[in-house]
Amino acid sequence: MNVEEAVLKRKSIRSYLEKAVPETDLTTIIEAGRWAPNAGEYTMSVIRDRGLLEKIDERTLQAMRASGNDFLMERASLPGYLPTYGAPVVILLSGPKDMAITQLNCAVVAENMLLQATELGLGSCFLRSPAYALNAPENIDLAREAGIPEGSQMECGAAIGYTDDEERFRRMERVPRGNVVYIG
Ligand SMILES: Cc1cc2nc3c(=O)[nH]c(=O)nc-3n(C[C@H](O)[C@H](O)[C@H](O)COP(=O)(O)O)c2cc1C
Repeated sequence: MNVEEAVLKRKSIRSYLEKAVPETDLTTIIEAGRWAPNAGEYTMSVIRDRGLLEKIDERTLQAMRASGNDFLMERASLPGYLPTYGAPVVILLSGPKDMAITQLNCAVVAENMLLQATELGLGSCFLRSPAYALNAPENIDLAREAGIPEGSQMECGAAIGYTDDEERFRRMERVPRGNVVYIG
């Protein structure tokens, strides 16, 4: 698969099989993230511990329900909805709270990993929602357990695994987005 094919094929997968991601594939995905453009420190937490993922799901659901945001509250109320979608691997990206470009450093890493996962035949989903829980002061214990260093905050992440064709929480068809303005 070339880059163009991976870009077009990648889509957000919101239902995964229990099957583990092969170690070599995971290493390739992590390395793809580490070769992303970068302008500062960040941490990649590679989480496969089912108990920890369940805790992250549970507290993210609580945070989504209490958010006051209609979209988040509606998603959290869907029967069986899990913010990390039962993916066997979730990679969280965090960086210094006091650095304005932390979000950018983390986002480019995530996109590289999503594209690499696609090339390897794996499903993936860009994740922001666990940040609602992990960046809240009351969940500092969970953030530490998830490997987020003191002084850092979670910006985004990637769910990775084999796609469950049922795709229960699919949101919309893929379409190109954004306004393009040609000047000159
Ligand atoms: C900044 C950002 C935050 C996102 N957060 C989430 C999230 O928390 N959960 C989720 O399921 N999808 C999340 N997504 C994925 C988008 O919903 C998805 O990319 C969009 O609907 C387009 O669909 P596609 O990825 O299949 O092309 C996020 C995407 C971006 C760029």
